[in-house]
Amino acid sequence: MILGTVLGLIIFGGIGEFSKSQKANSLGQVKYLIGVSYPNLNGPWQLQMNKEIKNEIARHDDTRVIFTDAAQNDEQQVQDIHSLMSYGIDLLIVSVDNASTLTPVISEVYKKIPVIVLGRGVKGYDYTLYIGSDNQLNGNMAAKEAIRLLGNKRGQIIEVEGNKESLQAEERSKGFRETIQRESKHSIIETINGNWLKDRAEDELKNLLKSGVKPDLIYAHNDAMALGAYQALKQLKIEGIKIIGTDGLNEESGGLRLVKQGIIDATYITPTGGTSAVQYAIDILHKVPGLPKKIILRNHEVTKSNVDSYLTEGDNSSIPFIKKKERKIKLGFAQVGSESEWRLANTDSIISAAKEAGVELILKNADYSQKKQMDIIRDFIKQKVDVIAFSPKTEDGWEEVLMEAKNAGIPIILSDREINVEDQTMWTSFIGSDFVEEGRRAGKWLVSDSKLTTTPLHIIEIEGTANSAPAVDRKQGFNEIIQQNSKFQLLQSYSGDFTLDQGKKWMKQALKTYGTEIDVVYAHNDDMALGAIKAIEDYGLKPGVDIKIISIDATIKAFNSLKLGKMNFTVECNPLLGPQLMKAVKDLENGIEIPQKIITAEETFDQKQSKKEFSRRAY
Ligand code: AHR
Repeated sequence: MILGTVLGLIIFGGIGEFSKSQKANSLGQVKYLIGVSYPNLNGPWQLQMNKEIKNEIARHDDTRVIFTDAAQNDEQQVQDIHSLMSYGIDLLIVSVDNASTLTPVISEVYKKIPVIVLGRGVKGYDYTLYIGSDNQLNGNMAAKEAIRLLGNKRGQIIEVEGNKESLQAEERSKGFRETIQRESKHSIIETINGNWLKDRAEDELKNLLKSGVKPDLIYAHNDAMALGAYQALKQLKIEGIKIIGTDGLNEESGGLRLVKQGIIDATYITPTGGTSAVQYAIDILHKVPGLPKKIILRNHEVTKSNVDSYLTEGDNSSIPFIKKKERKIKLGFAQVGSESEWRLANTDSIISAAKEAGVELILKNADYSQKKQMDIIRDFIKQKVDVIAFSPKTEDGWEEVLMEAKNAGIPIILSDREINVEDQTMWTSFIGSDFVEEGRRAGKWLVSDSKLTTTPLHIIEIEGTANSAPAVDRKQGFNEIIQQNSKFQLLQSYSGDFTLDQGKKWMKQALKTYGTEIDVVYAHNDDMALGAIKAIEDYGLKPGVDIKIISIDATIKAFNSLKLGKMNFTVECNPLLGPQLMKAVKDLENGIEIPQKIITAEETFDQKQSKKEFSRRAY
């Protein structure tokens, strides 16, 4: 173990060992020291991540990196992180295999310095930034390909998992299984733990196959294990089995070459995020404002039919880039309406960011009508704008109009709200909040605020627009938390459309029905909470005291109510999406691949915290 620690500490940049106090003297112009902790460096994907970090850091003269490799020993990785902290690092980049063991130590580090979690996640939100793929989507895409490959027969599938403790493996498995169960008659007959390693997958699979198990398809959570599976089949002279891997590296034995050679049938390019991690680390260290909380990188499905385009360097044929024009780039933005203070701040942010970025913006307001929003998008297509962004009123019903945009070759950016469409290539990127997490945060505050209460707490929920992403997700997140304790009793949910008037109307109705029985109001936005506050006052009760008020958005008006003691808690939902949107538009113009999702960083505020923050509030 001791030997492992010493060998595990690799110092890049020729610095030699030093302590924080030595740093300033001996390193001359070196200003920042970044610690990088890997769970292992024995797989091609982690090696690629390492290469990207090294290459990118070499571009920054004033920054150095210390790498540690825990050689697949979780306790060792905990030790490594402590060692890095003792070297006085200014920022930690960490990739983890065992989320349960590593989450607490990373939370501790996050209290002291910024932390970027890379590629493999931790539990919760105790980090500065997460960069990685949507692993559930990854598994889901693999399942769809498995269904296509297996055709009509009732196929038997073996799943080869990565390390059991890693969230990456858990999420890929979940996405794969859910889709297989929902959309096919195939069955997953066995799961083996390949621990991300080729040899282990090969040995485990050989044992299984020798026992007489007969699969039609093998789904491996990475390409190394997919290659192991292929070798096991070859040694046992078993033919005709389809293999799907994940990672899609373009190197010897990498997924792209395996697909090209017909060794495996499909892979998913899963970027490591190493380059972006260093770029964001530099931004974090330079305290650049408005940085996101999560960057979800894009996966590309690669099969025999499109592998050549990925092997030709620089050809990302599935991403709609904008052809450079002589004129300014033209962005059509179909704003959903003017229903709330949040929305007004969001519109202002888009207008001012477009001006600053030199983007020609055509902004049209749909006045909260989905039909009108579709008409506006169709008009943008006719006008041949370069990019279309919109904030979808509801989650459903977008297929037709988005297909028209896709056929016209116009990339779509979803701003603030997500949609439900089967074909995920209908949209290019999403920029906005994690609404489920917002709901959870609202629920967690209630749990902590009422921890001494043993009697039932009666809740009125005022939801946002029916079938809109924020309403669906905020409800889900809140329920997830309060359902853990039967003392929380939901009296009724009303659908309030995110407006002050609706909040007031439904609260009046709730008071008429339940009167003083109501203990808590959970409103899906501040405007509805403010409406509810008025109704409670009209009824002769004290909002914030007789009835606790929990809300979402954290606008300045909500802060005012917190200050006056009429509201108890608000969860921030950041409307200032303009700068991130313009960056994405510019990246599209410059041929830079933009992430699948960019999730904004957000905070929460109770009455005490709001006093400190009040003067700094931008919206
Ligand atoms: O989609 C974001 C939500 O829409 C905001 O929370 C709400 O105020 C707005 O109307």
